[in-house]
Amino acid sequence: MATTCVIREVSRHVGEEVRIGCWLHNKRSSGKIQFLQLRDGSGYIQGVAVRSDLPEEVWEAAKSLTQESSLYVTGTIRAEERSKSGYEMTVTGIEIIQITEDYPITPKEHGVDFLMDHRHLWIRAPKQRAILTVRAEIIRAVQQFFDERGFALVDPPILTPSSCEGTTNLFHTKYFEEDAFLTQSGQLYMEAAAMALGKVYSFGPTFRAEKSKTRRHLIEFWMIEPEMAFVDHEENLRVQEQFVSYVVQTVLKNCRAELETLGRDVSKLEKVVAPFPRITYDDAIKFLQEQGFDIPWGEDFGAPHETAIAEKYETPVFITHYPTTIKAFYMKPDPNRPDVVLCADMIAPEGYGEIIGGSQRIDDPALMEERFREHELSTEAYQWYMDLRKYGTVPHSGFGLGLERTVAWICGLDHVRETIAFPRTLYRLYP
Ligand code: 4AD
Ligand code: MG
Repeated sequence: MATTCVIREVSRHVGEEVRIGCWLHNKRSSGKIQFLQLRDGSGYIQGVAVRSDLPEEVWEAAKSLTQESSLYVTGTIRAEERSKSGYEMTVTGIEIIQITEDYPITPKEHGVDFLMDHRHLWIRAPKQRAILTVRAEIIRAVQQFFDERGFALVDPPILTPSSCEGTTNLFHTKYFEEDAFLTQSGQLYMEAAAMALGKVYSFGPTFRAEKSKTRRHLIEFWMIEPEMAFVDHEENLRVQEQFVSYVVQTVLKNCRAELETLGRDVSKLEKVVAPFPRITYDDAIKFLQEQGFDIPWGEDFGAPHETAIAEKYETPVFITHYPTTIKAFYMKPDPNRPDVVLCADMIAPEGYGEIIGGSQRIDDPALMEERFREHELSTEAYQWYMDLRKYGTVPHSGFGLGLERTVAWICGLDHVRETIAFPRTLYRLYP
């Protein structure tokens, strides 16, 4: 009886007969030989079926296979220099599970809407598989980075009674008799967790009912949110640049084949090494005005502004010290200049835009009270958050990395919709 294995592990079975559960990805035939492109999720291998060496029924079974038919294939593994994976299989047996008819996604070009309607099948395509593999590797690298540096993983709630990043894009739901909202960010809860555990991070889904149909926006996206007690703005930036370099370099090391499938120019990623350049909001505005942008001090940046700034650099760049008025209520003002806050957005190269938003947080109870009044936030709803400033307040900082924008950048994709298995985009909830 042949041993069962997965395609990723065939290198351990050279010269042996193995049995693999798989799907037919594609097929070529030369009359006397059929070349079966097989995939099992773990990888790809070419199965070679030679008519003269096979019982008639196995040859006929190979001939009957259509795209995405499911089967168990048995055969001998050979090292094969000319093959991309380095191995091939000489087919000896085929057990058909199902012959697939009319598979909707053919090798020809399909429109985006068609592909999105068939996302449950589209993810089987080599490029989509490569993206999801890189995504999984990024998540592994993220967790490894923080776990190895003494951060505790904490899970903030998804159903919340109040907002973190402003009230304009909240998803509303009922929580029995009460009103509730899907979380926009776990940050406020992570601040509480940092006061309990020192250094913490979360990794979870966040939701924004944003009516933005851009290549950078999803309605549901995943965020990594570290929060650190006794850490100031400067140290916050150092953690961020170390973190992003680590993730990029780990993907480069472990996902070469996937990046090649995606046609990614890896020389660009190789340059992503800390430290990253920094530019203040003031200087960014001056630079943009010099470039002919009509943007006054005090206005937030849009995608074209971010891209123009990022184009100057080969690594991500920090834009720091934004005006207090355009940033979130919890950000700490610069003590030397209270009209700007101790914050930074990290802008990815190559036009991928903001991948991190972060800041030092207000730790002074009186200033926090004042901000609540200015932003007309209910002191009752945020009583617990005020308690963090009342009972042993300390300087602290944190940030949020958007996973999907990071995947889009590292994979070199045109749109974030391909960075997650089942994207929730504006007006699309199916499949
Ligand atoms: O800049 P944001 O809104 O920051 C926060 O939510 C902070 N509370 C995080 C923190 O300090 N703990 O979002 C953080 C990141 C952005 O830089 C971006 O990468 C991503 O989340 N992001 C989105 N990604 C995809 N689709 C959207 N609609 C996104 N909105 C933000
Ligand atoms: Mg932001």
